[in-house]
Amino acid sequence: MAKTAWITGASSGLGLYTARALVAAGYNTVAGARSFQGLEGEGEQGYRLPLDVTDAGSVKAFCQRALQVSGPPDVLVNCAGVLVLGACEEYQPQELRQVMDVVFFGMAAMAKEVLPLMRAKGAGTIVNFSSINGLLATPMQGAYSAGKHAVEGYSEALAMEIKPHGIHVMLVEPGDHQGGQARYRATSQGVTDIYRDALVRVSGVIARDERTGLSPEKLALRVVRALDRRTPPFRLRVASLGQHMAVILHDLLPGGLFLRLLSLYYRVPGGARAPREEKA
Ligand SMILES: NC(=O)c1ccc[n+]([C@@H]2O[C@H](COP(=O)([O-])OP(=O)(O)OC[C@H]3O[C@@H](n4cnc5c(N)ncnc54)[C@H](OP(=O)(O)O)[C@@H]3O)[C@@H](O)[C@H]2O)c1
Repeated sequence: MAKTAWITGASSGLGLYTARALVAAGYNTVAGARSFQGLEGEGEQGYRLPLDVTDAGSVKAFCQRALQVSGPPDVLVNCAGVLVLGACEEYQPQELRQVMDVVFFGMAAMAKEVLPLMRAKGAGTIVNFSSINGLLATPMQGAYSAGKHAVEGYSEALAMEIKPHGIHVMLVEPGDHQGGQARYRATSQGVTDIYRDALVRVSGVIARDERTGLSPEKLALRVVRALDRRTPPFRLRVASLGQHMAVILHDLLPGGLFLRLLSLYYRVPGGARAPREEKA
């Protein structure tokens, strides 16, 4: 019998590619996103339903309708995400909350709804999209890094708690991939001249890394293949060699030295001498 997967953030980026891969692999897929409002029905991502993971009523309505459409899920993929670029000092409180609401509280709200359904079957897998930013923070992405670190901590605890009930957790930790939409990468309203230069430099590095990033189709395939295993891996890191190295160095090097190297990579003034051509 076909397995069932529910996926959030399926209208764009890695969520869209993962939903397509689930459909192609034969999963009975129910896909959620805010922009599916008024579009309920079959689409390339599976059966589309409106979903705002930050709205408790929307989460409940999605799960109730998805249950009618597909029956209880074998897999939940939490992929919805946003980031707000900005300096930690200058974030507006509502910007911090917005990122945490989508990235962390939304993920936890979906898991809370789905877990009783999986426990009743004694089986299931919760796939939480984290990021390399869940393992190390990068400048001007403090809110997002905090949100993804929260996803990591929550997922480790969750995995230990639900294993006895036959349910697995898989953390997907992507490095930079192509295909994400710029509209989900807002810039903080609070930015001032104090950090503007750093923000511009870091944004340039992020834009380059995403342009030259890994293939979202390949990531989606790896997720679906990992789900085929009898026991899915707890961590599925899909990143460039440099990003894998950065995670290792983050744990090996003295903390201050690692931050200095990362600042140098992101061209943050003060992390190292500014590149010569930009000194004038
Ligand atoms: N792309 C990368 O390089 C990369 C790297 C590391 C980790 N990730 C993670 O992978 C996931 C996808 O990122 P992406 O950059 O590929 O995609 P993206 O293009 O940024 O798309 C974000 C998705 O999240 C959905 N979303 C945003 N707010 C939502 C809400 N309140 N409720 C429900 N859905 C919401 C959006 O749909 P609607 O607007 O229609 O709701 C959209 O489908 C995120 O968790 C991200 O942190 C991505």
